[in-house]
Amino acid sequence: MTQQLSKHRHISFTAHYTGYIWYQMGISHPALATAKGKTLAALVHPIESWAEKYVGGSMRTTLKQRHTMLDQHLEKLIEQHPDLQVLEIACGLSPRGWWFRQHYPSILYRELDLPDMAATKQAALQQIETDSKDVLSVDLFTDAFASAFKVFDPQRPLVIISEGLINYFEKPLLQQLIQAIASYGRNFKELHYLTDIYPEPTQNKLATIIWNSSRLLKWMSRSAFSFHFKTPAEVETFFHGAGFGQVEVLQPKQFFENVDLESNQEHLGDLVWMIQATNK
Ligand SMILES: C[S@@+](CC[C@H](N)C(=O)[O-])C[C@H]1O[C@@H](n2cnc3c(N)ncnc32)[C@H](O)[C@@H]1O
Repeated sequence: MTQQLSKHRHISFTAHYTGYIWYQMGISHPALATAKGKTLAALVHPIESWAEKYVGGSMRTTLKQRHTMLDQHLEKLIEQHPDLQVLEIACGLSPRGWWFRQHYPSILYRELDLPDMAATKQAALQQIETDSKDVLSVDLFTDAFASAFKVFDPQRPLVIISEGLINYFEKPLLQQLIQAIASYGRNFKELHYLTDIYPEPTQNKLATIIWNSSRLLKWMSRSAFSFHFKTPAEVETFFHGAGFGQVEVLQPKQFFENVDLESNQEHLGDLVWMIQATNK
């Protein structure tokens, strides 16, 4: 039977690029670094270095920020719930699942992506993990997404993670995705959702350059890449509306530089934020 697929699939060359950056950062395994990723990283390298020098940050700086914030939050959740279950959606070639399975054998950590990427990831994992479980081959905008939740035990807490995903969809579709997560996960003992998000770059002195780069990314990935939110409060309202009770937005300036938490409601100028939502 052919697998059901939606039209909301952006082409996944970006996953090869980020996969290679994780490897360059020293947090991944050579099996998860592809030749395509290496070529893309070499192509983008001069622009990234220019941006780091003149803009004060680049795509790869934000990658490091988002990845670190998500990892540390996941570790905290595991400390609170040693029997945690994790579903990383749109996992691409991220090393996170591999790393957490090695370091926290008590958790159940499954990964999911579109069929082609799921097959590529699975082939890579089979080289480096014994008994590696299948990467779930699912389009998030089909009924198959509901079935992915059936792989888990509702008596145990579940965390859904996404990274580098949600800016690729227009707001109504994003609402549909977050509602689906809240609804399919509602019978679990606890449901958490961790994700990064790129807010509208209003505060950054080179916001126009960033806007234009995002248009290029939208065109290249044939997606609806967009910025949805200008303030943490807008994010919170949106997530509440989709069914999450508690929502917290964390900005790198708070996380890495300890900027006063009272400024929580302002856009502090970072290019990427992290969101932690629970259905309590
Ligand atoms: C920018 S990549 C991020 C990969 C990885 N999370 C990382 O940070 O390195 C986005 C991923 O979303 C996946 N994706 C896009 N549309 C999807 C859909 N409709 N259902 C499932 N996965 C999707 C792509 O295949 C790709 O692997």
